[in-house]
Amino acid sequence: MTRPRKLFVKSYGCQMNVYDSNRMADTLAPEGFVETATAEDADLVILNTCHIREKAAEKVYSELGRLRVLKTAAQAEGRKLTVAVAGCVAQAEGEEILRRAPVVDLVFGPQSYHRLPDLLARAERDGRAIDTEFPVETKFDFLPAPSRDKVRARGVTAFVTIQEGCDKFCTFCVVPYTRGAESSRPVAKIAAEVERLAAAGVREVTLIGQNVNAFHGDDVDGSTCSLGRLLRRLAEIPGIARLRYTTSHPRDIDEELIATHRDLDALMPQLHLPVQSGSDRILKAMNRRHTADDYRRVIDRLRGAQPALAFTSDFIVGFPGETDADFEATLRLIEDVGFVTAFSFKYSPRPGTPAAELADQVPETIKSERLQALQALILRLNAQFQRYCVGRAFDVLFEKPGRHPGQIVGRSPYLQPVQVLGPETLIGEVRRVRVTEAGPNSLFGDLAIAPSARRDAAAALTATGA
Ligand code: SAH
Ligand code: SF4
Ligand code: F3S
Repeated sequence: MTRPRKLFVKSYGCQMNVYDSNRMADTLAPEGFVETATAEDADLVILNTCHIREKAAEKVYSELGRLRVLKTAAQAEGRKLTVAVAGCVAQAEGEEILRRAPVVDLVFGPQSYHRLPDLLARAERDGRAIDTEFPVETKFDFLPAPSRDKVRARGVTAFVTIQEGCDKFCTFCVVPYTRGAESSRPVAKIAAEVERLAAAGVREVTLIGQNVNAFHGDDVDGSTCSLGRLLRRLAEIPGIARLRYTTSHPRDIDEELIATHRDLDALMPQLHLPVQSGSDRILKAMNRRHTADDYRRVIDRLRGAQPALAFTSDFIVGFPGETDADFEATLRLIEDVGFVTAFSFKYSPRPGTPAAELADQVPETIKSERLQALQALILRLNAQFQRYCVGRAFDVLFEKPGRHPGQIVGRSPYLQPVQVLGPETLIGEVRRVRVTEAGPNSLFGDLAIAPSARRDAAAALTATGA
């Protein structure tokens, strides 16, 4: 028997990369690869990269510098370390990576990782290999299912890709170029994947896609299935307690999805709905194809259907041509909607995107000032929401032991970590928790005891004379 080879996959960027990294490991498991937690003892290191902003893309090259040292050290010990670059930088830069970084043996894009065993063999034979095609076959048809133990080890929550790619072409964004055209997986395949996860103990599934609510997968009866209908279908799978989806585009929120937020208890009342800017002029230049008021109306309709909904968003400051007045319109939109939290970024010009060519780029100092002001506002709204939670009771899905003995940690419907004193047997269970205290990132609370249990406890105490 040959010694199992060790694999270390490092993920950058969005949740789809996290999902893809797991699937890469699944693809290599039948080849005798086992996962390891560090690059130091690995035989194969895969960097699953992100190209969304310059900083994200640069990280790859600094990590490759570190791997060069490791590779030389491995060679000195008579071991071979294979280095692969995957993901969106691989797709965007291709051959350029091989030229710039001699340490790299293998480059492959997000649509070709199902060919990994073959690619590794090619790199072995030819020295180096590259595959950045958008193949006609879909990788999902070739990916082996992970073992039950592997799913268990990954925890009680899981991501499932249902849609990939983007046809929106916002003028600042590389995703349509790195992930390719929008495509949806068939409903039967998604349901089978969720059933397998549920059977292995997964209780919460987040459906992911670059534009997840543009989902339009083939249904078993030959019709086209929307995201709303898919969510209802998946909620029926035994064991699935909670569903989420991300990331959505405001233009693709339809009536059926809104009604699903009203009717489906398993669908968590938290929605990440990126808006980028509150200025109509900038939204137009970004090619977002909606106005700030269109966005406000979508939020109102969603809130009308499901008042418990909390919204989070993404913002870009310093898009070319953004004036103080444009920026103030963004701050106004944030106040109006009352986002509970948000991600915010300085505009980063990306090669090959239309906005990078615009003349009136905003100076770095102004970008920094605006980012600070926006983040201060978001922090204030977030603190307000954390305070609002104190004294309320939420269903919490417990995920893992806490940092201190006797503590367990779960997530609220709004994704906040919640810490309570409780037994580890509750991991994987949903329990009502009364929130007693809120920190900046976490909530703390007590397991709410059902009234009947409370009566029993009181009776037991009286019986023991306590
Ligand atoms: N599909 C999602 C977003 C994907 S990228 C959507 O349509 O909203 C995640 C976030 O990165 C974006 O929402 C945007 O806020 C940010 N982003 C994308 N390109 C960027 C760029 N060139 N500079 C700065 N931020 C960017
Ligand atoms: Fe990028 Fe726009 Fe597509 Fe989102 S909708 S992935 S921001 S092009
Ligand atoms: Fe980054 Fe690619 Fe995701 S560019 S954000 S890893 S789709």
